[in-house]
Amino acid sequence: MPGFSTRAIKAASRVPDVPQPPVNVPIYATSTFEVADATELAELLAFERPGHSYTRYSNPTHEALERALAELEGAEAAHVTASGMAAIHGVIVSILRSGDEILIPRAVYGGTISLARSVLERSGIGHLAVDTTDAAAVMAAITPRTKLLWLETISNPTTALADIAALAELAHDRGVLVAVDNTFASPALANPLAMGADVVVHSMTKYIGGHSDIVGGAIVGSAARVAEAREIVVTSGGNASPWEAFLALRGLKTLALRMERHSSNALAVATALEGAPGVGAVRYPGLASHPQHALACRVLRGGMAGGMVAVDLEGGRTHGERFLGRMRVGVHATSLGSVETLVSHPASSSHRQLADADLPAAGLTPGTLRVSIGLEDVEDLIADFVGAASPG
Ligand SMILES: Cc1ncc(COP(=O)(O)O)c(C=O)c1O
Repeated sequence: MPGFSTRAIKAASRVPDVPQPPVNVPIYATSTFEVADATELAELLAFERPGHSYTRYSNPTHEALERALAELEGAEAAHVTASGMAAIHGVIVSILRSGDEILIPRAVYGGTISLARSVLERSGIGHLAVDTTDAAAVMAAITPRTKLLWLETISNPTTALADIAALAELAHDRGVLVAVDNTFASPALANPLAMGADVVVHSMTKYIGGHSDIVGGAIVGSAARVAEAREIVVTSGGNASPWEAFLALRGLKTLALRMERHSSNALAVATALEGAPGVGAVRYPGLASHPQHALACRVLRGGMAGGMVAVDLEGGRTHGERFLGRMRVGVHATSLGSVETLVSHPASSSHRQLADADLPAAGLTPGTLRVSIGLEDVEDLIADFVGAASPG
């Protein structure tokens, strides 16, 4: 009879049969999976047969989330990653080679700018920032080196919208692929693949997770495109965690409800702040004053415009800092897309890599606040924000 330790390890590793499917997808907290022979393992590692070998490559909890995301984005496939940045890196590096160039929006998540500057440049991949709300400017910026046009459905942090369908048509005519970061809209508000995008990425840290308790990302698109990006992610160690994939699956179940409340709260706060003392401008796609309001009404589902608002305070950097100190409901923290209202100051956080002189080109001022409206009672949010913005 084997010794106690041997018996304990074997006994505690037996996976039960589950005749009644659990209502929730289990967390497969295992780094590795037993195989019958070396051929099976080799085929699994090459993604040549269904199943799992090692969690850096795949895991059943990841697979459940990938299938859900693919379905909700109207795609063939998805691959989940450690973070939104791992997804962005995987997509870009799988498409571009040394000597190629990517076009990025002038107003784009600061981490994407950092990736271009600190990682892509070292590999000889160039980047050019363009105003993606201007199709003629995008076309003029395309050169024979351009391989990828990067867009955000709703830009971080300016809330500008690019016309994905029009730009995809023009880019494809020039042999340029289009990738869309759909983090701000989430699959509940927009499906960029249906508008002509070739691949979509998400930071699941935001609306998909929805509770500021996970960091994760996703790549969504055709099976071939996702497989190419997956190779980069798997090889560079950007895999998701089954624990966080579980929380992302839970988040998906309430995503539509949360987006409705984020959108209605944000519209009410943006409306109250427009013209309020101390406020220079409010940028929210749901406001008639937003430059792409008509486009937002056309492309965002159900007349919703999401929870992200950009507020330009009249008094610049000092006014922004005073606002953050005065808030009682909103939380001064980076990140977005959560149940609690989060407010950050891009000039000193997400866009700290830009000098003050470069902020206007990214659509920012030193006094711009990025506001991620949460699910609190809207009267409390309005009172908090109007009070904090007041110059007195
Ligand atoms: C639009 C957008 N894309 C990508 C990211 C990066 O996501 P993560 O922090 O999960 O890597 C962020 C993070 O703020 C973001 O706002």
